Amino acid sequence: MTEAELTPAEFWEQRYGEADRMWSGKVNTALAAVVADLAPGRSLDLGCGEGGDVLWLAERGWQATGIDLSQTAVARGRAEAAARGIDATFIAADLGDWIDDPRSIDGADEPFDLVTASFLQSPAHLPRPEALRAAAARVAPGGTLVLVSHGAPPSWAQAEHSGSSGAHQHHGPGYFPTPEAELADLALDTAAWRIAVSEIRERDAVGPEGVAGTHFDTVVVARRR
Ligand SMILES: C[S@@+](CC[C@H](N)C(=O)[O-])C[C@H]1O[C@@H](n2cnc3c(N)ncnc32)[C@H](O)[C@@H]1O
Repeated sequence: MTEAELTPAEFWEQRYGEADRMWSGKVNTALAAVVADLAPGRSLDLGCGEGGDVLWLAERGWQATGIDLSQTAVARGRAEAAARGIDATFIAADLGDWIDDPRSIDGADEPFDLVTASFLQSPAHLPRPEALRAAAARVAPGGTLVLVSHGAPPSWAQAEHSGSSGAHQHHGPGYFPTPEAELADLALDTAAWRIAVSEIRERDAVGPEGVAGTHFDTVVVARRR
């Protein structure tokens, strides 16, 4: 079966099955910077993967929940929480179902003080704009929405992506949303929301063959009035 024939769940299961651990396990830098000064409350992370952000939030007193399509990723998050004695909730579910019916995921239809999505980007089909709007709808008054995304290919891969028209695709490996594109997808009511951050942040990285390079993170932070 080719990658194109896999369902999104099969695609991500296959991807996570390629290694014992796919991501670093650490919190995403931009998320940590934004959230550091917030008082803990209830948090929800969409497309949480192996749970690096969820575990970091839970360690800082957040009542943290993560949702991901991959059973394998969620199982790794749960195992890491158990190993480190961290109280966090991981749910294996499809955000597509949650968009259609927030009550389809137990507890995920309630308001959250913090809703996050870090690199919620997928080569497989993902109804991303709808997921972002559903995320915003779950933020409680006074709460915060944080989106961190790859805003451009890393510096070492820019040549091979030049000429890509990915900015107009909402799924697929070529989609690198600008802050403006994220805000357009969110379509927030400006009377109800304040945009606190909307920018690209550069981050040092190490590319293939150990070459020093840069990641370009699109960071959007919106606070519900
Ligand atoms: C690039 S990874 C990011 C993982 C994690 N947030 C991080 O920063 O390490 C994207 C994640 O989105 C998840 N995902 C993709 N489509 C999804 C969907 N429809 N519902 C829930 N999760 C989904 C994938 O399983 C994957 O773990």
